[in-house]
Amino acid sequence: MKSLIQSVLILIPVLLSTRGAEEVIYAQLGATVFLKAPEVANSHNYYLYWYFGGAEIAWRNTLGGTGFSSGKWNFTRSFSGDSLTIPDIKHFGTFVGKLMKNGEVTVTYKVVKLNVNMIPPSPVLLGESLSLICNPETPGRDTKQEIHWLNPQGEKVKSNKGQLNLKATEQHNGQWTCVVTNNNRESKAKISVVVVYLSPAASSTQYTSKSWPLTIPCSIPSHISWDQIKSKGIQQVHWDFIPSPGSILNSSGPQRLFSLSLEEPLAWKPDQHRGLTPVSTLKNGNLSLTRNRVKEEDSGDYKCTLKFRNGGTLSRTVHVNVLQITSSPGTDLISGQQVNLSCSVGRPLPSDLRVKWFPPEQSSLPPPLPDHHPAHLPIPAVGTGDSGKWKCELWQNDKRLTSAVIMLKIESKQSVWMTVIICSVTAIVVLLLILVLVLYRRRQRKMRHLRHRLCQCKNPKPKGFYRT
Ligand SMILES: *[C@@H]1O[C@H](CO)[C@@H](O)[C@H](O)[C@H]1NC(C)=O
Ligand SMILES: *[C@@H]1O[C@H](CO)[C@@H](O)[C@H](O)[C@H]1NC(C)=O
Repeated sequence: MKSLIQSVLILIPVLLSTRGAEEVIYAQLGATVFLKAPEVANSHNYYLYWYFGGAEIAWRNTLGGTGFSSGKWNFTRSFSGDSLTIPDIKHFGTFVGKLMKNGEVTVTYKVVKLNVNMIPPSPVLLGESLSLICNPETPGRDTKQEIHWLNPQGEKVKSNKGQLNLKATEQHNGQWTCVVTNNNRESKAKISVVVVYLSPAASSTQYTSKSWPLTIPCSIPSHISWDQIKSKGIQQVHWDFIPSPGSILNSSGPQRLFSLSLEEPLAWKPDQHRGLTPVSTLKNGNLSLTRNRVKEEDSGDYKCTLKFRNGGTLSRTVHVNVLQITSSPGTDLISGQQVNLSCSVGRPLPSDLRVKWFPPEQSSLPPPLPDHHPAHLPIPAVGTGDSGKWKCELWQNDKRLTSAVIMLKIESKQSVWMTVIICSVTAIVVLLLILVLVLYRRRQRKMRHLRHRLCQCKNPKPKGFYRT
């Protein structure tokens, strides 16, 4: 008995367990958790056990044999070396790894559920308020933890104890990651944020010119399904046209172009469609309108609007500018006349746009200086060489936006005089001819009249008889 006690006393220091500090791991439901095995120097001849909630869940021996205990816990786990990997974690709690060699070394992991939520749930409309909340299920236990968020662009965003309040923008759409750091260990949880917006992202301006084709873009980005739009309570989708301020159409105010019938299958109902056609890819969320040939009256604002039940509205405006060359006093001119050409969209051009003029090849007018791009081109006296196609192009930096043309017909003064003379002579000749004809006819009529009167007796007799 005494020797037994002695041997136990001797064994105690050997068996004294080395217990590492409890480490906290934060994990989102369904995440993969990696539990690093306890480390010992010269790890030969050992046994390793993993426990969860006090029950053995896996073992590994020094020869590499492994086994998974089929007890209460039947979740998937696998060894990577001595470390344990649990994909798709569903049960949270304390995991212990125990390595038995001469003594025992244990590691303890407290796997804490990390909740990430979005209020309201996705999808949200552009401009709507939303909160992202990231909180471990045992708050306050680990004061050293730091929580921040990574936005979809991967940039760090500071949070207030894991909560982030946002006003939805296009950039907020995508996957957000909550990062909890404690003891230099980072744990991540992800949540996907769906923001409903219209593309193009910003209001856009288009420059076009007469007879060019036109596409007025408006679409629901592909990451948003029509079902998600419906779940937000869509009530109305329509296109409106607001003619540009200078236009004669302006007085009539905005015009409803199309309304979308929200019954399946979705279809556009034209109101005053103005010759515009909706694109055929409506079912892909493409709400764009097109037209084959632009007309002057097409310049104005085109507004695509989505109205939702809660009062939310999404809209995009496309400013369409039709470039035109106008000639004062006109296009039929006489050489020597003063002419003013102007290349404009009916309103002042933004300062980053330049106009380039292209006179006809045989024009005597020197091309405008490269650093001088006036929208108005005064020609003090046009020559016959200026007859033909004048072109102006609209440029933004190194990009040509559109171009417009005008045909000038210029006749020389001489030819105008010649024409006048020829016309006058012709007119006089024609008048004379008419006069001659009229006189001749009158004479003929007079003759007939005379003859008629001579024969106004009861029994007309041959002329010769009376004469004698
Ligand atoms: C919508 O349709 C138009 C015309 O077919 C096309 O040019 C445009 O790229 C489409 N937009 C999207 C977002 O698919
Ligand atoms: C052309 O412009 C000038 C200066 O703006 C003006 O004085 C002139 O009357 C204009 N001529 C015509 C034909 O419009």
